Amino acid sequence: MKKNEEKTSVLFLENGPIQVTGTLKISGQYGEKESKDPVYFCRCGGSKNKPYCDGSHRTDGFKG
Ligand code: FES
Repeated sequence: MKKNEEKTSVLFLENGPIQVTGTLKISGQYGEKESKDPVYFCRCGGSKNKPYCDGSHRTDGFKG
């Protein structure tokens, strides 16, 4: 690994979101956002703040 490269990791949390750690650039219709903090992406479909998890998976019965 090169000196300035950070390792990115993707983890599917049981019955919850996808956790991505590392330096990320997230692009969409509203522009771009860079994050170095862990980001949690919804995979249950119930979030009101897609693509991010808002905790709805805890109450919508998501299993995965
Ligand atoms: S995974 Fe958390 S709201 Fe969808």
